Amino acid sequence: MKLLDGKSCVITGSGSGVGRQAALLFAEHGARLVCADVNEEGVARTVDEVKAAGGEAIAVRCDVSQRADVEAAVAAAVEAYGRLDVMYNNAGVSSPMHPTGATKSFLEASDVDIDRLLAINVKGVLLGCQAAIAQFEKQDADGGKRGGVIVNTASVAGMIGWGGSLYGATKGAIVNLTRALAIELGPKNIRINNVNPGTMATSFGIGANGPLPQAMLDRMATLQPLGRIIDPSEPAKAALFLASDWAINITGIQVPVDGGVGAGK
Ligand SMILES: NC(=O)c1ccc[n+]([C@@H]2O[C@H](COP(=O)([O-])OP(=O)(O)OC[C@H]3O[C@@H](n4cnc5c(N)ncnc54)[C@H](O)[C@@H]3O)[C@@H](O)[C@H]2O)c1
Repeated sequence: MKLLDGKSCVITGSGSGVGRQAALLFAEHGARLVCADVNEEGVARTVDEVKAAGGEAIAVRCDVSQRADVEAAVAAAVEAYGRLDVMYNNAGVSSPMHPTGATKSFLEASDVDIDRLLAINVKGVLLGCQAAIAQFEKQDADGGKRGGVIVNTASVAGMIGWGGSLYGATKGAIVNLTRALAIELGPKNIRINNVNPGTMATSFGIGANGPLPQAMLDRMATLQPLGRIIDPSEPAKAALFLASDWAINITGIQVPVDGGVGAGK
């Protein structure tokens, strides 16, 4: 069964990690994709992999902090596929780091660090929601019934005091944006939900300098009640469910994919 058969979807941050896995999975489920990322090489590779697996995708260079780029990604979906059905705002960056790779403390974060995190993790999602909603409303030819779907990647760090205060503040903003927009957009049949991963060994944060040694992966696994490393394909599966009609009556929720980290807090 194909959960997104023929649906036109934009996935930001799909040049790597969760976004790439979501692109592969959404395409396997019949979605027609615009893969958007600031990393042109990464997103071109994603599109190649989607096509090699028989899927449909185009690559768009997009910095989610720039309104024109985000609007252009949505416009690319409309041009290629005639409409937009799903906007997956997934691009994000980790807590600021020292050149050594150590995470900066809250007090060490500079204005540049703070502005960058807010611009990508918060403004990027706000712009993605605005561009998608504007398009959903434009294509809504039958009296506000068609609607559309937004999925955001927030983080378990947006739900509990864990994973860094500055990063957590940006992800917490998305948690509450989603709740508020769900109420506002429900009557327009636009659903919005979040996938909230725990720590993954992607190129994000601690994995920025390449694959992590097995001993470190084993240590990361022990930090979670389930004791398993979270693979980026796992939040992608939650995103697929939320994007699909299987979640037709679900809006405004947080789906943690965190090995249970948030359960005890
Ligand atoms: N890795 C983790 O531990 C973790 C935990 C919780 C939540 N998350 C969230 O998951 C999402 C995906 O992260 P990931 O782990 O796959 O990391 P990743 O680094 O593998 O992927 C993130 C992608 O976003 C892209 N990106 C960065 N800035 C961008 C911008 N300005 N415009 C467009 N694209 C941009 C990057 O080029 C990259 O391809 C992020 O929102 C992140 O905050 C990650």
